[in-house]
Amino acid sequence: MNRIFSGIQPTGNLHLGNYLGAIRNWVSLQGDYECIFCMVDLHAITVWQDPAELRRCTREVTAGLLAAGIDPKKNVVFNQSTVPAHAQLAWVFNCVARMGWLNRMTQFKEKAGKNKENASVGLFAYPDLMAADILAYKATHVPVGEDQKQHLELTRDIAQKFNNDYGVEFFPITEPLILGEATRVMSLRDGAKKMSKSDASDYARINMTDDADAIAQKLRKAKTDPEPLPETVDGLEGRPEAANLIGIYAALSDKTKAQVLAEVGGKPFSDFKKDLTELAVSVLTPINGEMARLMADPGSVDAVLREGAERAAAIAEPILKDVYEIVGFLKP
Ligand code: AMP
Ligand code: TRP
Repeated sequence: MNRIFSGIQPTGNLHLGNYLGAIRNWVSLQGDYECIFCMVDLHAITVWQDPAELRRCTREVTAGLLAAGIDPKKNVVFNQSTVPAHAQLAWVFNCVARMGWLNRMTQFKEKAGKNKENASVGLFAYPDLMAADILAYKATHVPVGEDQKQHLELTRDIAQKFNNDYGVEFFPITEPLILGEATRVMSLRDGAKKMSKSDASDYARINMTDDADAIAQKLRKAKTDPEPLPETVDGLEGRPEAANLIGIYAALSDKTKAQVLAEVGGKPFSDFKKDLTELAVSVLTPINGEMARLMADPGSVDAVLREGAERAAAIAEPILKDVYEIVGFLKP
């Protein structure tokens, strides 16, 4: 059986990288797999979150998924903290994963910055919780952006070590699905930096809540280089800003970079940016309108999460029970 699990942090500034690296792929996978999509609020609090803002963002990110075309009847859509199995299995995995494994995680190093001593213990153990998210459902496939690859390798290591240590064939060895032409969307201000929710400059990213004017303005100001666009993918080598904008165009139009370059190669950036703006506005503004509509009716979003939590728990609880049995916990 194939089952997909993926998660997204319910923090502010849901952006084009989240959409192209994750959400858009989730939408196209939903017909072919049993899918579970989770707002990972337990992960969000590994760095400080204002409680009211966390609640608002949990609804907003859920609204983003629904507006993008995730069907909450066909798929399970819920927030992580409502299903205790995530935290419970994460504890078991804290005892399976090794300090040395977690010490190698680049996301921890980036997020903790220079002052590692002051990072939360949760931020360090973050990948164990992510492995628990996935394996609490015995998910076989996990669609994510490129930046999550290392965490998924760790998930495989945890599954393998658990199976070996306890002499069982219990957890599947999960496959990452890193799909599309924009698996790592870069900042619009700096082609060497990932587009991220936490970038201080709002001009670095296109938010899923941006209207047509904001999208146009950000793309007009996006960093480029002085050369016209190349005719072939090889010509993008050493031109990170061009590669990024072409990748975005390709992903938004469901074409390959080569197909896009066959159309726009030789154009100056000023012309290409107009095409890209038109495309981005045509894809994003309907989503943005639907998100606003859903946010005006938070009760409907909450109802989706409530139903999703029940369905998620029904899958995860028996798996956690088996884990407790395997580990040797005495039943009450
Ligand atoms: P996060 O917002 O960190 O919870 O990420 C949610 C999903 O979006 C994950 O699958 C990430 O890999 C993906 N993602 C985040 N930023 C980017 C980006 N700049 N490019 C592509 N995918 C991204
Ligand atoms: N760590 C992921 C991110 O920051 C979010 C996440 C948490 C996740 N649990 C997951 C992604 C399980 C896929 C599967 O993007």
